[in-house]
Order: sequence, then C-alpha cells, then structure tokens
Amino acid sequence: MKKKLLGALLSVAMVASLLVGCGSDGGAATTTSDSASDAQTETEAPADNSEAEAPADDAEAEAPADTASTGGKIGISMPTQSLERWNRDGAYLDEQFKAAGFETILTFSDNDSGRQVNDIQNMLADGVDLLIVAAIDGEALNTAMNEAADANVPVIAYDRLIMNDAVSYYVSFDNYTVGKLQGEFIVEQLDLANAGDTVYNLEITAGDPADNNAGYFYNGAVDTLKPYIDAGTLNIVSGQMDFDTVATAQWNTDTALERAQNVLSSYYADGTQLDVWLCSNDSTALGVAQAVTSDYAGSNSVLITGQDGDEANLKNIVDGVQTMTVYKNVSNESIVTLGLAKAMLAGDTIDESLIPSFGIECAYDTESYETSEGNKCPSFLLVPNVITKDNLQELVDTGLYTMGDDGYLSAN
Ligand code: GAL
Repeated sequence: MKKKLLGALLSVAMVASLLVGCGSDGGAATTTSDSASDAQTETEAPADNSEAEAPADDAEAEAPADTASTGGKIGISMPTQSLERWNRDGAYLDEQFKAAGFETILTFSDNDSGRQVNDIQNMLADGVDLLIVAAIDGEALNTAMNEAADANVPVIAYDRLIMNDAVSYYVSFDNYTVGKLQGEFIVEQLDLANAGDTVYNLEITAGDPADNNAGYFYNGAVDTLKPYIDAGTLNIVSGQMDFDTVATAQWNTDTALERAQNVLSSYYADGTQLDVWLCSNDSTALGVAQAVTSDYAGSNSVLITGQDGDEANLKNIVDGVQTMTVYKNVSNESIVTLGLAKAMLAGDTIDESLIPSFGIECAYDTESYETSEGNKCPSFLLVPNVITKDNLQELVDTGLYTMGDDGYLSAN
C-alpha cells in the first residue's frame, strides 16, 4: 500500500519534472497519467544481470519474466550492429541499467528507420517507463515519438538528437568540438599557421545527413580549416567540399571507400600529392584508408582523421595508416544516461546540479540543441579527446581496452 502511494506521488512529481524538458511547448507528456511509474510500484527483486551478449539486429533482449526489476522497465533502441560503437553502447547501457535494478529491452534496428519505429512501438506496447533512443534518422521517428508522448513515456535522445518535442533530454558528446578537434589536429600537425607558400592538398568525407550529429562534426572541422582553405594553404583538389557532396549515407565504410577511390582516380592518378583526408568518423576513415592504401599513387603518408576508437581504426593508427581518432568514452555516456534516467523517474530537479552525482565530466547545455524551431532541448554533453599513436595507453587506462603483445588494442 505504502509503495503504491509512493509510486503515485513519484509519478506526479515525475510528470511535473518531465514537462520542463524539450516538450515544454506542449509536444510532450501533457497529461497526468501515472502509467509511466507503475512498474516502480509493482516490482521487487533486482533484475538478473547475467544476460549475455548483444542480440542480432532487431532481436529483443528482455529480462526473463521471473526477474522483476526494482526500477522499472527501460527501452533501449540502438541504430545498428553494423557500426562498432553501437554494439558497445547497447551493451553498456543494458549492463548499467540492469545493475541499477531496471528491466531492459534492447533492440538494434539494422539502420532501417521504419524498423526502429516498429521496435519503439513494441517497447511502448511492452509498457516501458522510459525510452533511450539513438536515432537512425532524427527526422523519421515522429510516429513513435508521438505515441511515446501520448503514453507519457519520457524519451532521452541518446548521442543523436531526434527532431521531435517528445524528447525530454539529450545525452551526447560535444559534437561540434569533435569536429573542431579534428580540424585543430590538422592545423597543428601541418603547422598551417607557419606554412608560408606551401600548399597542402585536402579531401573531406563527412557522415550521414540523416544523423543530426554529422553536420556538427563537419562544421566544427570545416570552420576550423576554412581560414586556411580561403588563404589557399589548404587546397581541395577535387573541389568537393559542401556537406551534401562529401556526406556518406549511413556512415557506410564501403560507400566512403568507393567515393575515395573515385576521387583518387579522377584527381590524383597523375601524381598529385594528397596530404590530408578529413574523415568525420572511424567507419568512414576505414574506407578512405583502404582506398588510400590500394589506390593512391603517392608514397607520402596521408594524414587521416577519425572518431570513435573502433578496433580496426586503432590498428590502423598503430600501423600509421590512420593518424588520429577522436575518442568518446561511451561507457561514460551510458553512466550519465543512467544517472539522468534515475533522476527523471524519481522526479528530481534536472539541471547542472546533477552532474557531480554522475562522477563524469560533462556540461549541462540548454542552448545548443533544438528538437524543433525555438524548442531548446536540455543536454548533457560529455568531453571528447584526441587519441594518436602516442597516447593509446590512455585507452588502456580507461579499462575498456586491452593492448595485446602485438601492440594492437581490442575492446574488452
Ligand atoms: C554518430 C556518432 C559517432 C559515429 C557515427 C556513426 O552519430 O556520434 O560516434 O559513430 O554516428 O556510427
């Protein structure tokens, strides 16, 4: 009985607190139904954490029925297992939430946004109390997001923003800074400020236009490099610079590889030297590095950037085939997400005062991101950092990677 009453009080506080999120203009949870916190009142023993690996795309990994949770039921919707990082995100989120006593449903939607809508709808039908969604296409989830809002199920946009006001909060890294770090790395490595008359040839590969992050990465890097491009110190031999021309649908490695091969055969086959290839992330850098290795006629080493710390790219960094990656500790991203979700479900005040409880460096940002025009989405943004051959040990020190005797890193 007491538990029921507490649950009812929590649910009123929770709905009130959620209304200050992105949906405050009226798009999100606007009724006072307590359905979202029912699971808190009915559940007893902590969930069993023994569940094994990530499931195949679109498979559901639900806690067995006899392991009811104390915290409620969380729907975790990841985009795909074909890109390395989302496997890690899915696994960390699932582990963290289960260890904190929640029941979880984890899905991967095979980079198919129709399937992601479906997966989220199934989670809602299963009575989740909160959704964590890394969108395949930030503009294609309206049906599922509106249904979440109607059911008073709060949504955390995870890593990638969703363009719908049902999103209460956004947890990510500082995406513009990711691109800026790539740009600054190029400026420093080539000492562009002191380049004099030297001209360096540059090509660019960006991310998926459906992913809201891709533009931030591109802008952060290109804004940093623009003065040198304008001055002629950096020369884009192909002339391909605008985002749509250099974008890579679904961040696909083969797509990046093919475009890089085309650029190399069209503009560099005559012996023109290529100095730098700015790549927004590791899956695209992998394709570009492959093209450079097999199709570039020159013998200089080409500076190639990346992002994520994927295993194959870390190997390329050790081998000198890729030069840097911007590392984002996604275990920490899952810890921040758990802390935020707990606060949301408990009806706590959500602002920068929560950050010390995460124990992870991040910023509370209420200005940078909007789910619709003028509708700011309060965000917790973690801090990315540059990894090169010289500081790979930092990854080992996180406890998330092991260095083998051959000097290559593998994710634990
Ligand atoms: C982005 C994400 C990057 C990268 C890319 C492809 O949204 O922030 O870390 O992994 O997707 O998966």
